[in-house]
Amino acid sequence: MGVLQDKVAIVTGAGNGIGKATVERFLHEGAKVIAFDRSIDQALRHDNLIWVEGDVTRAEDIEEAMSRAKAFGRLDVCVANAGVGKIEEFVNGSRESWMQVIDVNLIGVMMTLQAAARLMIQGGRGGRLLATASIAGLRGEAHAPSTAYATSKAAVMALMRALAMELAEHKITANAVAPGQIDTILNFADLEVMSARFGRDANEFRSEFLKTSVPLGRMGAPSEVAGLYTYLASDEASFVTGSTFRIDGGELAI
Ligand SMILES: NC(=O)c1ccc[n+]([C@@H]2O[C@H](COP(=O)([O-])OP(=O)(O)OC[C@H]3O[C@@H](n4cnc5c(N)ncnc54)[C@H](O)[C@@H]3O)[C@@H](O)[C@H]2O)c1
Repeated sequence: MGVLQDKVAIVTGAGNGIGKATVERFLHEGAKVIAFDRSIDQALRHDNLIWVEGDVTRAEDIEEAMSRAKAFGRLDVCVANAGVGKIEEFVNGSRESWMQVIDVNLIGVMMTLQAAARLMIQGGRGGRLLATASIAGLRGEAHAPSTAYATSKAAVMALMRALAMELAEHKITANAVAPGQIDTILNFADLEVMSARFGRDANEFRSEFLKTSVPLGRMGAPSEVAGLYTYLASDEASFVTGSTFRIDGGELAI
């Protein structure tokens, strides 16, 4: 029996990277999963998996995902993970470029968690609200100008702390996960922009960065973040709330 046996979970940003690995691990642990993404992965199929194609910035799409959880009879876990990256110098930014990031990374997370919290409160059994932040929200990024992204991720951590206070009376916990360098499309896209700024080859730039800035000297795998999410979603984490968990190979310990 898995550690998430018969729990019902929603995971956003499930089509790729950290979200997809989390869906796979949750299914392996016995959960029933509603996987939500604007671009779904047709190849990932399972008896306990329902895909919902949608955008976290659209309330009606989120409601569609929640209605699938209702069909399973309950909602225990919500992982608000969908996010977009943005490397842009502050002086070149605009209201529009900030809104693209804030809309998905903060407002999308807020809308997802709000709909999930309403269902959990109705269910009366408590629940787990989880969100993917980033170490970019905890410190400045030397090589990657990304003020809107960093701001959105710091706000997600603040949101989870505030939610932990507000929802404790309903036995709903709220925690953030702050990954460092995880091997996904999003990370590689950012790396390509950064290395190009310095006229460097992306892979060389990455090896050098990992050697000097990450004590474990490598990228993290999406499955390693999924492992942390599995713990936080499980009964083992029943006394954990209002926290941010760094998972960064030691990058912020330097
Ligand atoms: N990869 C890293 O190094 C890293 C580090 C820190 C934080 N993060 C965060 O982890 C989360 C997952 O990123 P990833 O690295 O797995 O990236 P990814 O690009 O591999 O996956 C992100 C997924 O989110 C989906 N998505 C994006 N915008 C959406 C929207 N508006 N509605 C619905 N789905 C949407 C995409 O379609 C994609 O499938 C993000 O919030 C990201 O900011 C990633």
